Amino acid sequence: MRDTTAYLALGSNEGDRAAQLQRALERLRAVPGVHDLRASAFRESAFVGDGPPQGPYLNGVARLRTTLPAHALLGVCQALEAEAGRKLPAPRHHPRPLDLDLLFYGDEEIDTRELTVPHPRWHQRPFVVEPLRELGADVEALPRWRRPLSFETAAEFAARCSTWHAGALVVGLVPTMGALHAGHASLLRRAREECDRVAATIFVNPLQFAPGEDFAAYPRTLAADLRLCAEAGVDAVFAPTVGAMYDPEFCSHVATGSAAETMEGAVRPGHFAGIATVVTRLLALARPTRAYFGEKDAQQLAVIRRLVQDVGFPTAVVPCAIVREPDGLALSSRNVYLGADDRRASTVLFRALASAQLAFRRGERDRDALLQRAHAVLATEPRAEVDYLELRREHDLRPLPAGAIDGGRMLVAARFRDGVRPVRLLDNLSLGAAGT
Ligand code: PAF
Repeated sequence: MRDTTAYLALGSNEGDRAAQLQRALERLRAVPGVHDLRASAFRESAFVGDGPPQGPYLNGVARLRTTLPAHALLGVCQALEAEAGRKLPAPRHHPRPLDLDLLFYGDEEIDTRELTVPHPRWHQRPFVVEPLRELGADVEALPRWRRPLSFETAAEFAARCSTWHAGALVVGLVPTMGALHAGHASLLRRAREECDRVAATIFVNPLQFAPGEDFAAYPRTLAADLRLCAEAGVDAVFAPTVGAMYDPEFCSHVATGSAAETMEGAVRPGHFAGIATVVTRLLALARPTRAYFGEKDAQQLAVIRRLVQDVGFPTAVVPCAIVREPDGLALSSRNVYLGADDRRASTVLFRALASAQLAFRRGERDRDALLQRAHAVLATEPRAEVDYLELRREHDLRPLPAGAIDGGRMLVAARFRDGVRPVRLLDNLSLGAAGT
């Protein structure tokens, strides 16, 4: 059996961390088929992730030569983790006495239920990158996770998702229309953290644009989108043409009810039916365990939650917080079309919402007084042509009766007209905790 160079990441944040890491290294050195093991110094790093509050990690990296196949080396690592007291299967992001991750196995790419090599996120982790440098590795030259598999036909995409389901993997779906920005990247990162496999879809869906809307002009940046997906560790990208998504005989549309009738639904008739149709198709193809949607399109999120419940898709809908520019503007693929003056003026949306949120936090509870606050801020910016400003119930965005409220989400939409083309921007903000 030929010798292969492998790198392992070591971590511990429970018990005598240094002693556990040292012992794991000693045990590894004694494994038949492992030789020339060199380890970096250990470094402390704060825990990052969604798990329960927990202490900092002590981390390091070991380089070794081995005649063991990759899965056998993984088996050794799992045995050492169990010996250190780690319960397997370990819940994600919980404290652990010992964590051993196979980062690289030669230059092999491995994608099985148990093992993904190169480790998809090694390059995002300073507590891995620094020890690798210390061991003399040329970090820029080390392999990153392969480019995502790219699918153009629905059947191939569905088949790949089926193989993941057959392996009982947690599958995350991030549906997008491309022109990906930091907001999408945050959805992809979250999916990467929470799922075994992540599929992103890139499809500018004609069904959700009314005649005369910006379907033809919607930004399309496929090459950059694929790079961003690769960087985020996405496993598969489904980027079909319109013909591959909807065959020429396609005629089954999903109707949406009351959740889709007001606000965006009133301004853009048919918009949510188009979204519900494409999302139904994507959920049926991928059958994801979890599907990620941004809160910026809060009404879309409410419509999709309703759809998933009504149809009974076995998918958890995961809302992801809005990502904003430093001046408060919510990230949107359409922001690129704002002229310079409109770009400056566009912050009025967030300022209006934030003023209502501040008033709520200071004790104002009257629905109309809160709306009045936000209207007063919007009125200071004549460039913003407001389509609607609403204060709705959290989660399902049902109307709130006049009078005292104990929480809610304020939503605004406005048009700006001085850029390359007119742009409609949406924003929303939760005022307080009730019902959230
Ligand atoms: O939010 C979007 O980008 C789209 O509306 C979606 C959910 C991908 C459906 O086309």
